[in-house]
Amino acid sequence: MADAPKDRRPATEMIHGGTMRSGFGETSEAIFLTQGFVYDSAEAAEARFKGDEPGFVYSRYANPTVAMFEERMCALEGAEAGRATASGMAAVTASLLCDVKAGDHVVASRALFGSCDYVIADFLPRLGVNSTLVDGTDLDAWRSAVRPQTRAFFLESPSNPNLELIDIAAVADIARAADARLVVDNVFATPLYQKPLELGAHTVVYSATKHIDGQGRCLGGVVLSNAEWVEDKLAPYIKHIGPSMSPFNAWVLLKSLETLEIRVARQAETAAVLADRIGDHPAIARVYYPGRADHPQAGLARRQMHSGGTMIAFEITGGKDAAFRFANALEVVLISNNLGDARSLVTHPATTTHQLSEEERAELGIGDGHMRLSVGLEDVEDLSEDILAALSASQSATIRAVS
Ligand SMILES: Cc1ncc(COP(=O)(O)O)c(C=O)c1O
Repeated sequence: MADAPKDRRPATEMIHGGTMRSGFGETSEAIFLTQGFVYDSAEAAEARFKGDEPGFVYSRYANPTVAMFEERMCALEGAEAGRATASGMAAVTASLLCDVKAGDHVVASRALFGSCDYVIADFLPRLGVNSTLVDGTDLDAWRSAVRPQTRAFFLESPSNPNLELIDIAAVADIARAADARLVVDNVFATPLYQKPLELGAHTVVYSATKHIDGQGRCLGGVVLSNAEWVEDKLAPYIKHIGPSMSPFNAWVLLKSLETLEIRVARQAETAAVLADRIGDHPAIARVYYPGRADHPQAGLARRQMHSGGTMIAFEITGGKDAAFRFANALEVVLISNNLGDARSLVTHPATTTHQLSEEERAELGIGDGHMRLSVGLEDVEDLSEDILAALSASQSATIRAVS
C-alpha cells in the first residue's frame, strides 16, 4: 500500500490516496475482478490464512481494488481505517450491528432516510435491540433517552429530506458520557463539507451511491472509524456476513473520487444560487438550505459545515397537486429519488422516499407540497429558468380556479 503522507489536501488525496500499482506500472488503478487468489504452495496458503504472511485470500474478505477505494476514503475523511460495502444501507446496518447485541439499546434522531428508519425502528428491535427515536435538534431529548443499555447513537445531518441539522459535537459528548458510540450518516454533507470524526463522532458512514459516484452508475457504501474497532468488529463482520463491495464498483468509485471535489464544489455553488431564487418565488411557502441565513439552524450550519451543500428542500404552496404540477413541468431537472448526481433530480418525499402517516410526516415537517432538489452539474441559468418556470406552472390551476 502506498505510504501516503498524512498532510496532503483532499484534492490530492482523491487522485493519489491508496494507489497500489501492480508490476505493470499502470497509470490508472487496475480492476482486480477476481473472487479469489492462488498460492505458490500449500504452506503459503496456510501462512496467508493464519495471517503470518500478508496478501489477499478471498474477495469477500478484502480485494486490492476495493482496498484502494477504502484507503482513499480514509485519506479523504482523515479516518484511521474503513471498509467498503455493497450499498449505503449495508454500511449503515454494519455500523450499527457491530456496536450492539441483544439487550442493548440505540438512540437515533427521528429525521431519518426511510431505510435507516426501518433498520433502527423495525429491524434492530426484532433482534432484541430496542431503539428510541428523538427530536435530534433537542439535546435534552438525547440525554433523556439514554438507558444503562444504550450502546449506539445514530444521526443524519443534514437530514433527508428537509435538511435539519444536528449539533454533532454536542451529541458526541452525550454519547461519550453514556459510553455509547455515535454513528453519523454524512451523505448529504459529503466528506468535503462536514467532518464528523473531527467533531467527535466514532463512525461515519456514506452511501457512495450518491455524490461519491455522482454519475448514477453503481451502488456502494463505506464505513470509516478508528483502527481498533474496524479490525475487531467491522472486518470480521464484512468477512463473515458478506456485504462486500464489488471490485468493479470500487474501480468506478475510485475514478469518481478523482473528480469529487470539482463536481461537488460546482453543484454546491449552483445550489446556493438556486436556493435564493427559489426562495424569492411567490409559489414558495418555505425554502430549506443550510447556506441561507433563514435556515432554522444557520449558526450551527456555519459552525459545523464548510458549505451549504448540494441539496435544497422547499414547500410549494398548493400541496400535492401543485408539487406534482411543478415536477411534471420540469424539462431539465429529472424526477428521481437518487441524489448527489451530475443530473439535477427532484423528489416528492411524501409519495416516494418517506411514505409515512400524516402525523409522522407532520412531526418531521414533510408537507404535501414538500420537494427535495438535488442540484447537478448543468448550467445554473438553464436550471434556474427550468425551475422558476415550473414553479409558476405549479400555481396555474390555483390561479385559474381563483380567477
Ligand atoms: C441519508 C441516506 N443514507 C443512506 C442511504 C442508502 O444508500 P444506498 O441507496 O446506497 O443503500 C441513502 C439513500 O438514499 C440516504 O439518502
